[in-house]
Amino acid sequence: MDAPRRRVQRTFGYTKNIKMTDSIEMNFVLMGAGGHGAVVAEAIELAGGQITTFIDHYNSQEQCCGYGILRDENSIALSDSTYIITIGDNATRKARVMEKVRTYGIVKHPGASISKRSSIGGGSVVMAGVCINANAQIGKHCIINTSSTIDHDCIIENYVHVAPSSALAGGVSIGEGSFIGLGAFIIQGVKIGKWCIIGAGSVVLKDVPDFSIVAGVPAKFIRINERSNEEEDLAIATPHE
Ligand SMILES: CC(C)(COP(=O)(O)OP(=O)(O)OC[C@H]1O[C@@H](n2cnc3c(N)ncnc32)[C@H](O)[C@@H]1OP(=O)(O)O)[C@@H](O)C(=O)NCCC(=O)NCCS
Repeated sequence: MDAPRRRVQRTFGYTKNIKMTDSIEMNFVLMGAGGHGAVVAEAIELAGGQITTFIDHYNSQEQCCGYGILRDENSIALSDSTYIITIGDNATRKARVMEKVRTYGIVKHPGASISKRSSIGGGSVVMAGVCINANAQIGKHCIINTSSTIDHDCIIENYVHVAPSSALAGGVSIGEGSFIGLGAFIIQGVKIGKWCIIGAGSVVLKDVPDFSIVAGVPAKFIRINERSNEEEDLAIATPHE
């Protein structure tokens, strides 16, 4: 009998919390060939991963970062690929999650510092210069963008986007689908609800209810995030675990 085939694994990033989804044998399919897709592609390359193709229904270019762009996901065997949805908008990213995809990969840029006591869900990306500290929990299909910091014991639910240079102090929680704007600061222990938007450069001192848009220093309520309500209804119709 043949010896079982061993998968060679290397660390993605500087940490050693290796999971099967971090294997360099992975061939990533990236859904979304825009600017965010290009940044994720470079993170995969730097981490030693492979890219099979992009899929983008709307991008009319032939290539992104030198890789081909397919218009239709039905033309490849999704169940055999490691998939990542490279769309920056949280509600759109949630709506694109597909049941028939078996594996959503995790991308960790080699220049991110990620605690071995943290956890990251499938489909999430961690960009260059990010620091994720002890016991932080990151959900599925999240974007932890360039040079943001997620301190100890933070809980980030699925489909969250933490924009570049934002800082979450210890014990902050962020509800599903919320967007933390560029350079926002959230002080320790604050709870941000689901499908909220925190304006760029804001300082959040108090809990933020679901579907709120807040901004400023200190952050104040601006309006309800109606768009995300609609998008979430769409996404609930196609749930994925
Ligand atoms: C918060 C935000 C979503 C509000 O957008 P909007 O709903 O279109 O709001 P408006 O531009 O109509 O502004 C409404 C009011 O809030 C104020 N405001 C908007 N954004 C603000 C911010 N970031 N900080 C402080 N005040 C802000 C406006 O000055 C305006 O005040 P006024 O009524 O006194 O004139 C948006 O301004 C923002 O900050 N987006 C984040 C962008 C980002 O981080 N991108 C990163 C991509 S990776």
